[in-house]
This record gives sequence, structure tokens and C-alpha cells, in this order.
Amino acid sequence: MQRIDKIISDHTYYTRKEIKKMISQGAVYVNGEEVKRPESKYDENNVALTINGKEIEIKKHLYLLLNKPKGYVSATEDGAQKTVLDLIPTEYKYRDLFPAGRLDKDTTGLMLITDDGEFAHNILSPRKHVPKEYEVTLDIPVTLAMVEEFKNGVNLNDGECKTADLEITGECTAKVTITEGRYHQIKRMFGCFGAKVLELNRIRMGNLYLPKGLKLGEVKEATQDELQKIQERK
Ligand code: URA
Repeated sequence: MQRIDKIISDHTYYTRKEIKKMISQGAVYVNGEEVKRPESKYDENNVALTINGKEIEIKKHLYLLLNKPKGYVSATEDGAQKTVLDLIPTEYKYRDLFPAGRLDKDTTGLMLITDDGEFAHNILSPRKHVPKEYEVTLDIPVTLAMVEEFKNGVNLNDGECKTADLEITGECTAKVTITEGRYHQIKRMFGCFGAKVLELNRIRMGNLYLPKGLKLGEVKEATQDELQKIQERK
């Protein structure tokens, strides 16, 4: 059982003061009955809540899909630079959101932003082998030697990479699938061949492809189906 003002503040961006005021104005209803006092207790898992007649969904966690543009760092705050959280609409900001994994500042594409630490761990841990696929453009042609070496495990200065899939799609373009998320991993893997990554765009996490309609900089709540897919190994 939880105080109603706490339940509301956990699931909306209203402050405690605003909530108290709305309750005193008779704007808050639970299970069809007006709430009279902020300290009234309810079962969080079993409240149908409305504020000013609008239904408020009680969700344990929030899962947002972002198509990350260039120019944003994958952090919750940064004194000097814009972060991916700056792209999140204010209506979601009451949550303790963080990006599940990092994309470099100049990398674009699919990113999950959530407040569910356990879920994030499950899709990021190299032991879970959840694949992440990227489109890449290099400054030199992609070679079969790269394909072979990516499969065998490229040796970086912090150890050998797990096997990675490299599919050539054009002279200087390819699709790369990795299951780890080491610092600048793909750039360093190509760096071993003297190649510079010019463009990097993540198009898939698990079995979930970047949703078609999601434009650069846009955010959408993930559906149950999308959350299921993001955890799958292909
Ligand atoms: N590998 C990189 O080098 N950068 C990214 O942003 C993601 C994977």
C-alpha cells in the first residue's frame, strides 16, 4: 500500500504541492471514487487513476526508443554537451531515465532509454549475446580480410573481440553485428585495418530493428512486442 500523493508523483510530472492542490479541488479519482486526502493509501498495482478526468497509466518502468542524432552524448548529464536525455519530452522526465548502453557522440540510430536497470543489464551484458547491428561507411574499401578477421575475433589492446559478423554492402559500406559494447569498439576494430569509420548508424538491437517511422531525434514508447524483440538473439 502506498500514499496516493506518492503514487501520483511516481507516475506523473506533478509536484507534491500540485498534487495536494488537485486533491483538494476534487480532481483526483481512484477506482471511480474521489480521493479526499493525499495520505490515503492504495495498492499501487490496483489503482485506476484519473486526474481531471484524464486516465493516468500506472507503469512500473518506462521504456523509450530513440533514434539518436549526431551531436548528443550518451549520458544522463554533462556540464558542457547536449545529452540524449535532452531529447526526451518533459512528460517523461519525472522518471530516473538513463540510456541503456552508449553510442558515440557522432553515432546515430536505435537506442533504448529506460529506468529499468535489470532490463538494461540483460540486453547489454556480453554474456547474454544480444546482437547489435550497425550500418557503417569507411574511408577505404571493405575487404574480405576484414570479414574473415571479424569472424575470428579482432584483437584490440583491451583483448580479443567476440566473433562479429561483417556483411559487405558496397565498396566502402557494410553491416556489422557485435554482441559486446566496448568503448569505440567498431571504430577500433576497423582501425586495426587502417580504416576510419565515417558514418555509424545502429539499426538493430536484439531482434528489434529501428522502427521505420522514427525520425532522427524522435522518441516513442516501446510496445510489449518491441521489448520482447529487443531481448532476443536472432
Ligand atoms: N562502436 C563504436 O565505435 N561506436 C559506437 O557508437 C558504437 C559501437
